[in-house]
Amino acid sequence: MKIRGIFFAASILTLSIIASAEIYLKETFSDADWEKRWIQSQHRDDLGKFTVSSGNFYADEIESRGLKTSQDAKFYAISTKLNKEFNNTNKDLIVQFSVKHEQNIDCGGGYVKLLPPEFDALSFKGESPYNIMFGPDICGTTRIVHVIVNYQNENKKITKQIIAPSDQLTHLYTLIIKPDQTYTVLVDNKEEASGKLEEDFKLLPPREIHDENAKKPDNWDEEPLIPDPNDKKPDDWVDAPRTIPDPKAEKPDDWDDESDGVWEPPHIPNPEFKGEWEPKMIENPNYNGTWYTPLIPNPAYKEDKTLHVFNTLYIGFDLWQVKSGTIFDNILVTDDIEEAKKFSNETFMKYRDAELEAKRKLDDLETEKTKSESEKVNKDDDLEDDENENNGNDEIIDLDVEIGSGGQIKVTKPDDLPEAQDNTSTQESTTPTTSELPPSPSSTKDENDELDKSFNEFEEEIGIRREREEL
Ligand SMILES: *[C@@H]1O[C@H](CO)[C@@H](O)[C@H](O)[C@H]1NC(C)=O
Ligand SMILES: *[C@@H]1O[C@H](CO)[C@@H](O)[C@H](O)[C@H]1NC(C)=O
Ligand SMILES: *[C@@H]1O[C@H](CO)[C@@H](O)[C@H](O)[C@H]1NC(C)=O
Ligand SMILES: *[C@@H]1O[C@H](CO)[C@@H](O)[C@H](O)[C@H]1NC(C)=O
Repeated sequence: MKIRGIFFAASILTLSIIASAEIYLKETFSDADWEKRWIQSQHRDDLGKFTVSSGNFYADEIESRGLKTSQDAKFYAISTKLNKEFNNTNKDLIVQFSVKHEQNIDCGGGYVKLLPPEFDALSFKGESPYNIMFGPDICGTTRIVHVIVNYQNENKKITKQIIAPSDQLTHLYTLIIKPDQTYTVLVDNKEEASGKLEEDFKLLPPREIHDENAKKPDNWDEEPLIPDPNDKKPDDWVDAPRTIPDPKAEKPDDWDDESDGVWEPPHIPNPEFKGEWEPKMIENPNYNGTWYTPLIPNPAYKEDKTLHVFNTLYIGFDLWQVKSGTIFDNILVTDDIEEAKKFSNETFMKYRDAELEAKRKLDDLETEKTKSESEKVNKDDDLEDDENENNGNDEIIDLDVEIGSGGQIKVTKPDDLPEAQDNTSTQESTTPTTSELPPSPSSTKDENDELDKSFNEFEEEIGIRREREEL
């Protein structure tokens, strides 16, 4: 009885703390039912397949599991429904999720789209209207975090540039939109941008404009300095010439006045030369400053108290990726910033160090593997030479180092190795055909053209011109 009483009191306390928080979606992909919750678009039949995986290195095999793109050079489109419609008129809107480009992404999207109630999951594609598009987008040296909001049926891009991390580790992306019409973008819980939606997304015409009819007053004095009227040229000021004949110059011995003309010494700078006399400059007592056309209220401006408002019922990924393998995880849609912080503490922040450690281990093992392979090659060369001499009586043992899921080293003979050495590909049913592979130095022109074509098609679909300037 007593224990129950304490438990009851504790529950009430918890309830009163989180009573205001509404969680519209919390997705960790850590159970087998994710496929029932996420709907694959059917708008074309060659969309890339999503799987669930914790990847090649991770902090926790179950907790680090996320939604993974599994086929190269594919469009992807998948979505899920929120627990209820989210109208953020008087609430904070927070969307948070993690992205791990563990494939070392060359070109591909990593963003989510918040979608309105009218959204149709089966026909989800680039043109599907969305409320907000948010997250990283990497292509070559261009790596940005998109923030695009739909305002009056137009997609308006943030005017600030946020650089996306491009390593292979998990990164956390958080967008907060508040009813005061401000926004904040966090990457790995660190603020990367914030400001007013109206200004930073140019949602409305400017509040003030320069008055084109204004004219600079005739008596406006823009000279900060004037010559001192009281300054006089000193009486002993000598207007010495700039140059004088060099007193040290001597007429050459072989100079013949008759044929060479009259000899004249060359000129040198005059040490006495003081320049033209000029009065000293003083501050202009009548200086009025620089004249600017004054600002006046813009007659075209009309305040909109609802420009931050979205009705959201779905969230989805609509992407193009050249090299696949991105893992999305820990998606949260909520109206409570503390809740988002708490969830990030329990997920991203909690596993961050362990993931880095796992990555280091993997890197070390790969270095070791490469080393032992190159040693093996050297050894083979030596043995080949020996074989020619002793008819190959030496037994050659080839060892291969494999990386286990817990980071353990497994040493095997190559004969014992399974056909597919890449675990990610064994989970995935479809092997990309040659034409789907990303461009490599060996791919043909046709393949590259094909890729360019579908990439352009994708760009048109999402209606965004990627900024290609070097960062
Ligand atoms: C969203 O909420 C506001 C304030 O409660 C309301 O005025 C508005 O009609 C709502 N929008 C929709 C589409 O429900
Ligand atoms: C410019 O500055 C002077 C000195 O302060 C002032 O007397 C004059 O009125 C100013 N002119 C204008 C056009 O404001
Ligand atoms: C998140 O973790 C930090 C650091 O441990 C802590 O200070 C903060 O209170 C936590 N926030 C929440 C909402 O749990
Ligand atoms: C692949 O997965 C199997 C079983 O899940 C594991 O034993 C093996 O070590 C993995 N291999 C690699 C290369 O990760």
